[in-house]
Amino acid sequence: PLNPSDPPRRVLLARPRGYCAGVDRAVVTVEKALETYGAPVYVRKQIVHNKHVVATLEQRGAIFVEETDEVPEGSLVVFSAHGVSPAVHEEAASRSLQVIDATCPLVTKVHKEARKFAAEGYDILLIGHRGHEEVEGTQGEAPEAIQLVNDPSEVDDVQVSDPEKVIWLSQTTLSVDETLETVGMLRKRFPLMASPPSDDICYATQNRQEVVKQIAPDCDLVIVVGSRNSSNSVRLVEVALDAGARTSYLVDYAHEIDEQWLDDARTVGVTSGASVPEELVDGVLGWLAERGFGDVEEFTAATETLTFSLPKELRRDLRPAK
Ligand code: F3S
Repeated sequence: PLNPSDPPRRVLLARPRGYCAGVDRAVVTVEKALETYGAPVYVRKQIVHNKHVVATLEQRGAIFVEETDEVPEGSLVVFSAHGVSPAVHEEAASRSLQVIDATCPLVTKVHKEARKFAAEGYDILLIGHRGHEEVEGTQGEAPEAIQLVNDPSEVDDVQVSDPEKVIWLSQTTLSVDETLETVGMLRKRFPLMASPPSDDICYATQNRQEVVKQIAPDCDLVIVVGSRNSSNSVRLVEVALDAGARTSYLVDYAHEIDEQWLDDARTVGVTSGASVPEELVDGVLGWLAERGFGDVEEFTAATETLTFSLPKELRRDLRPAK
């Protein structure tokens, strides 16, 4: 129960948060494919790394598979926002699958960079998380030229054929600060190393980290809404802690919040990863309001206006709006 003499409790709501342009496009792609072609629509890997989104699309008739060999010959398959290697496109073609590619255009941009610099004879040092789908897709563009650097501890093991022809690229959803640290260490070993022509860590990842950095010092607790396998969501918890939040946790749903996290808390920060629908944030805000945290102040660090058009394979078949 609230004691009137308690100091006020408030929520600092981060903005931007939630869906980025690439996730919005990928989710709408599966929805429109279901409307246009009917269920089932096969999707290779989770369309975006969010439990709730995947469960909702499954209910509507999407079937998520790990690999294209699980998709019946000739069927429709959507490739997820994280991108695929050329080998996956070849497999799909060999099984006459009808492909809609929902790869985020900002991931495709990194694939193009990888192809270009590999063709020019560069050794490419790809900073990213081993085993993440995006990294597997990008590496597949030029496996012979790309070495993965998972974190600063791997910098010493990197071997290149010509230290004057080296470039670093990265996964789109990394921690900006940790990546800069890794780059700094790589540059000590390879002073002539080139940088990507433009940022590989995407605008959405950067903006979500930036606003968390700004609110975290004022927060006793930062709740990040997102799934465990969502790279950019997990990074937000790390950024919050590094920037001075007393505690920070990742939850998929409001019911996962532990009441004890609120002990002695006055200011609670709330944000969400790039794959998280706003209704899940609303759930968390509702849960907090019921416990005395109904005063919500939105803190804006950047405005986002980017949108992407739907994949061309789908646009071609979309029924005109009635
Ligand atoms: Fe694309 Fe960045 Fe979102 S790479 S899918 S805009 S998190």
